[in-house]
Amino acid sequence: MEVIEQVSALRAIVTALRCGGKRIGFVPTMGALHEGHLQLLRASARENDVTICSVFVNPTQFNNASDYKLYPRTLEQDISLLQSVGCDYLFAPSAEEIYPQQSVLQFSFGELEAVMEGAHRPGHFNGVATVVSKLFHIVQPHKAYFGQKDLQQVAIVRQLVRALSFDLELVCYPTVREADGLAMSSRNKRLSDAQRQQAPQLYKALQLAAADLKQKPVAAIRSEVAQKLQQVEELELEYFEIVDSLTLQPLQDISGQEEVALCIAAFVGEVRLIDNMLVNLKEG
Ligand code: PAF
Repeated sequence: MEVIEQVSALRAIVTALRCGGKRIGFVPTMGALHEGHLQLLRASARENDVTICSVFVNPTQFNNASDYKLYPRTLEQDISLLQSVGCDYLFAPSAEEIYPQQSVLQFSFGELEAVMEGAHRPGHFNGVATVVSKLFHIVQPHKAYFGQKDLQQVAIVRQLVRALSFDLELVCYPTVREADGLAMSSRNKRLSDAQRQQAPQLYKALQLAAADLKQKPVAAIRSEVAQKLQQVEELELEYFEIVDSLTLQPLQDISGQEEVALCIAAFVGEVRLIDNMLVNLKEG
């Protein structure tokens, strides 16, 4: 695997690959790789001639300076993991390389960004859209791989791809979980042992809500989840929403819905975690 830090060097490689008719799969990441990323990388290696992964902790998508500073950075370990799954190129640029001048671009995603992550992390999706656009221009992938754990991010990137006519296919893979149900996330590395014990309560709350969906009104499920999580010592619920799985708009009533998404965000100590679950209401 070749490690590339300069945009110009990667552009030259991509041009040669495309001229040679190679199909490029791309997995954008912020590093601290885990099984969720590796699943995307394996899929890319299977489905394309060449796989490029980026590891870049993107400063413009953090609305909290300490979250940016403390975000886990484990490049050496990431390199070994990438080699083990057959990644061909790692793009690991500096912040100056990606942002030679201050970014003032403004994206707007309408109602899609007015809820959940967009509402609680002002500027977050603007930063995501900026960096993802830059990466798509540089890497020019045929397929780009994202994880369902960041459900709203996937919806935002889908809208971005359509709005800016990026010539690529977006591929989304389901969330990979630890044995106790905790969604894999780079931020899990920041949890203390005690917090790590409590963190699976997020997934348990989603399971509880899913089991109640057909029996109880949305408002009752929301308060049940809030009450349950209030009892977990280090956990502070930020939001729990039952949303339309396509528009991601919160629902007060799920009658007539084919599929909903249950979405949750909470602080476990200082670490902010998110999770979600898609529930098909027509099955069973
Ligand atoms: O999901 C992530 O890791 C990041 O938001 C992404 C897509 C790599 C953009 O920085």
